[in-house]
Amino acid sequence: MAQDNEGGERLQKVLAQAGVASRRHAEQLIVDGRVTVNGNTVTALGTKVGIQDRIEVDGQSVQRAEGLHYYLLNKPVSVITSASDPQGRLTVVDLMRDVQVRVYPVGRLDYDTSGLLVLTNDGELTHRLMHPSYGVEKTYRVWVQGPVGINALESLRQGVLLEDGKTAPAKVVRVSGNSNGSNLKLKKDPLEILEVTIHEGRNRQVRRMFAAIGYTVVKLERIRFGSLTEENTLLSGAYRPLSIREIKDLRSKVGL
Ligand code: URA
Repeated sequence: MAQDNEGGERLQKVLAQAGVASRRHAEQLIVDGRVTVNGNTVTALGTKVGIQDRIEVDGQSVQRAEGLHYYLLNKPVSVITSASDPQGRLTVVDLMRDVQVRVYPVGRLDYDTSGLLVLTNDGELTHRLMHPSYGVEKTYRVWVQGPVGINALESLRQGVLLEDGKTAPAKVVRVSGNSNGSNLKLKKDPLEILEVTIHEGRNRQVRRMFAAIGYTVVKLERIRFGSLTEENTLLSGAYRPLSIREIKDLRSKVGL
């Protein structure tokens, strides 16, 4: 039970939100000893419950009304994009400690990729955001062992052939470094920074696109997901709820 669960909700509120009774009547049910939490009768009105707690009224299980929740996380490297990991590695859900509802990542970022990740319990939105037919753009900042010539950029823009088929044309912008060889005077293999925008979501797609044209990605960060960007404001490992406007924008992008 969650008496010490700071982030939990008051039992009478949860019962009322679940449609069991009005708030006042829910309090009476509790006082009358008709409510159990994880099998234990609870009569204290201040009791807080977390999402994991099992609530029953008169022996009948209460289905909690969770509502839809949306978050944006700045995923650090060395965290797995999954709700659980058999190998016990830190997951993105582990990072969202104060979130009482179960939310799931929309798509995935590799273990060694950082950046913006949406988590929600809105299944229909998740499905559509991940489907390439809706064309939701994702922008990645890519640190690559250069020098990267014009031809390489052109190949990415045209689409490159991977083992699971040719990629759709990408938008590519050079952030640092240039193709005229000036970097070569400084270093043999300069690190260059590019921004690449794609709307597909294949496994390790950006890394594989660069590998296919002969380059190694040294570091990869997602800096935009649809209309969501967060330059320097969301610290690594931090998350925040999406605003109503951001939710509306995301949903309308995919016809919801
Ligand atoms: N492309 C990759 O290679 N890795 C990611 O995590 C996302 C896109």
